[in-house]
Amino acid sequence: MLIFTDISSIKSHLNKLEKVGNIIGFVPTMGSLHNGHLSLVKKSILENNVTVVSIFVNPTQFDNSEDLQTYPSNIENDIGLLKSISDEIILFNPDSDEIYSDGIKSHQFDFNGLDKHMEGKSRQNHFQGVATVVNKLLSIVEPDNIYFGEKDFQQLRIIENLVFEKKINTKVVRCETLRELDGLALSSRNSKLSFSSKKIATNLFKALNFAKEKFSTLDIFEIEKKVREKIKAHSEIKLDYFMIADEEKLEPLISGNNKKNRAFIAAYISGVRLIDNIKLY
Ligand code: PAJ
Repeated sequence: MLIFTDISSIKSHLNKLEKVGNIIGFVPTMGSLHNGHLSLVKKSILENNVTVVSIFVNPTQFDNSEDLQTYPSNIENDIGLLKSISDEIILFNPDSDEIYSDGIKSHQFDFNGLDKHMEGKSRQNHFQGVATVVNKLLSIVEPDNIYFGEKDFQQLRIIENLVFEKKINTKVVRCETLRELDGLALSSRNSKLSFSSKKIATNLFKALNFAKEKFSTLDIFEIEKKVREKIKAHSEIKLDYFMIADEEKLEPLISGNNKKNRAFIAAYISGVRLIDNIKLY
């Protein structure tokens, strides 16, 4: 497997591949790979001749230095997992100095209001950091297709908006959320949970499913109230937000509409912050 750590080498390698007509798929990640990440990689391999995966824990998207320092990382294991899928994957694993040669800071983007609620509200500058790094990575890899998980739906919409506004010649491909059999969405952060906390965390998916079940019969205010009550019954869970919003603008829904809507949740389980969402259609 080819592993690049510097921008100029990967750029010149990919340029050569592109010149002879290869279609390039790109999966940006922060590593500590699990089957959710790998499902994006497999999709890219099916849809492109060349697949690039990046592993880079991006400092500018963390508003909390402890969260950054304790973010799980296991590069040897990640390389093994990628190799087990295909030896032809190209891995880009730069360090901070390589990506942020102009200093570790975010550029400023206008997300047309997509960052107003949920993660944008709870995590200061998070999406400015995400957009900064994805914009840099896009200009390095210049992929035909870039793969994002619906697990981070707000992030996905923000990147779709970025690509549209900047007229970047890349297609953003949406990928479904992979879950454990009990419904818990796969996440690198799950490795920080004890066995019993993992069990408690399944209540987030249960709450989302409750919202889906009641969406056509109860009004939104009632659903939100009931979800809050359900979550409150578990003292180990500290709810950050529960929100029903339309997929396009990510504005909180006040009453039913004909648009495609989703229910979103974020909560701390024994101090570990988890997010999840499901579609309501
Ligand atoms: P990371 O959390 O490593 O996620 C990388 C990609 O994997 C994202 O597109 C995310 O939505 C997707 N993913 C995570 N869990 C998933 C699951 N259970 N099912 C399907 N897809 C899943 O998201 C980031 O990294 C960073 O913000 C990044 C975009 C790399 C920028 O730094």
